[in-house]
Amino acid sequence: MSHTSESTVERITLPMLQRWKEDGRRLVMTTAYDAVTARIADPIVDMILVGDSVGNVCLGFDNTLPVSMAMMNHHLDAVARAKPRALLVADMPFLSFHLSPGDTIRNAGGFLQRGADAVKLEGGAKRVGVIRSLVDCEIPVMGHLGLTPQSVNAMGGFKVQGRKADDALRLLDDAQRLQEAGCFALVLEAIPAELAARATESLTIPTIGIGAGPDCSGQVLVFHDVLGLIEGHRPKFVRTYADGFQLLQEALSRWAVDVRNRTFPAPQESYRLPQGIGETIANWAPSNRIRCEA
Ligand code: KIV
Repeated sequence: MSHTSESTVERITLPMLQRWKEDGRRLVMTTAYDAVTARIADPIVDMILVGDSVGNVCLGFDNTLPVSMAMMNHHLDAVARAKPRALLVADMPFLSFHLSPGDTIRNAGGFLQRGADAVKLEGGAKRVGVIRSLVDCEIPVMGHLGLTPQSVNAMGGFKVQGRKADDALRLLDDAQRLQEAGCFALVLEAIPAELAARATESLTIPTIGIGAGPDCSGQVLVFHDVLGLIEGHRPKFVRTYADGFQLLQEALSRWAVDVRNRTFPAPQESYRLPQGIGETIANWAPSNRIRCEA
């Protein structure tokens, strides 16, 4: 699908996602943090998330806690400039929805003014008030339950959630509360497949799983994980479809070899002077010119 014919490209909307959940059509979401990744992903996915995972994926932090509104705005602006047809969701970073209702609405509303279609925020029942106030301001909200990375300290690490009966029941209750508060979809992260399936069948809104088994209404994976752009440990739930890191390094090293053995750039990759000017510059000498100017 071309990005140049904007008027003919149908933008994905919230009612479409709801309809697709009802029709049993699986929803696909990935992350993008800049215009290039957004353009790669946009023709393929239904939703693009400017995730606060930008902190660990792109910015070199160990977790998402240092990610600020200024950082999120910077990356959202870049993605929005790609004018995606996919529904564009922006992640509310740590402390952007915890301090005061006014701040929360300004931060979330600011995301919409910059081009997001919706915001995502982490947390269960205790976020109901915040979610209601955003929805009242016509700001669509995607919830996020299970492993919520902004709670890494409270959870004692990035651990699978909802394995104990109490935790599983709380998650099912939270999912209901978030739906009642007005969320249009929920991300379910790192929870047992059976629990995600139960949540999905009990809700009317779509669930988007990441490490939550096959029975969610859709799936999300981080762009860099799908394409194998990150070296080192990968969570069990990541399936990688390319060895992007190696692929890109191989391409870059072929270019470096060409530079070093002087086969790059070739004549067709170089600009030429118009006829006659070559002789002029060949006759130039620094001392001549300085004498003329004096
Ligand atoms: O920040 C993020 O990328 C996310 C997804 C993994 C759901 O929250």
